[in-house]
Amino acid sequence: ETEAPRDASRAGHDVLVTAGPTREPIDPARVLTNPSTGTMGYALAEAAAARGASVTLVTGPTALSPPPDVEVVSVETAEEMNEAVQARRTDADYVFMAAAVADYAPADPSTSKRKKTDDDRVLHLRRTPDILQTLGEHKQPGQVLVGFALETDDLLDNARRKRDEKNLDWVVVNDPTEDGAGFGASTNRVTLLRPDGATENLPRMPKAEVAEALLDRVLAARHEQST
Ligand code: CTP
Ligand code: CA
Repeated sequence: ETEAPRDASRAGHDVLVTAGPTREPIDPARVLTNPSTGTMGYALAEAAAARGASVTLVTGPTALSPPPDVEVVSVETAEEMNEAVQARRTDADYVFMAAAVADYAPADPSTSKRKKTDDDRVLHLRRTPDILQTLGEHKQPGQVLVGFALETDDLLDNARRKRDEKNLDWVVVNDPTEDGAGFGASTNRVTLLRPDGATENLPRMPKAEVAEALLDRVLAARHEQST
């Protein structure tokens, strides 16, 4: 598959960020989702826009206000997020995949409400598309893919495996069971897996500062590559 040639004069300025959870319908009254609040992705989008990047934020449902100077695309399901992201992948110099995408969705969502008196205790699930894996399969020269991994065990082994499987450049790992990190926290403590394989532990800091630190490193590394 060939991708359209990229306009070099704009290189380095298009940033695609995903944020928040996805929401997978079970029936008209119920969903499968996760505790992501979108804070890390929104902070990244805002920080990148403040640096002058052209930023698109594809977001699942959150309670956050749209960041200034960011094009916001709101989605609900993993399928919708996948379509929104794949439609924009050729324009993106950087992709920060901070969304907590549901891995499974109800296989056969009901159009009418399930009743407890049905006594049906089984929910059949299907796998959702792996958005980042598809991005990795179609990665363009010079494009930088940043994955986010929540891990409770073997953090770095799992992060390296995800980097290899999804053809990523950077992986941002954190442990949601740690104090002051993960879902809903205002701070985060992350470990970066860098493209050269080195790791870096960042101190616990507000998510806005984690976003700045990430942009400092990721944007600088690409600049080195291209000069
Ligand atoms: N991701 C994605 N599409 C999915 C699932 C995950 O794009 N269907 C992305 C996430 O946004 C994240 C990265 O893949 O940037 C890693 O997500 P994570 O849940 O840690 O990894 P998985 O590959 O889903 O593996 P597992 O949940 O089994 O650890
Ligand atoms: Ca997952």
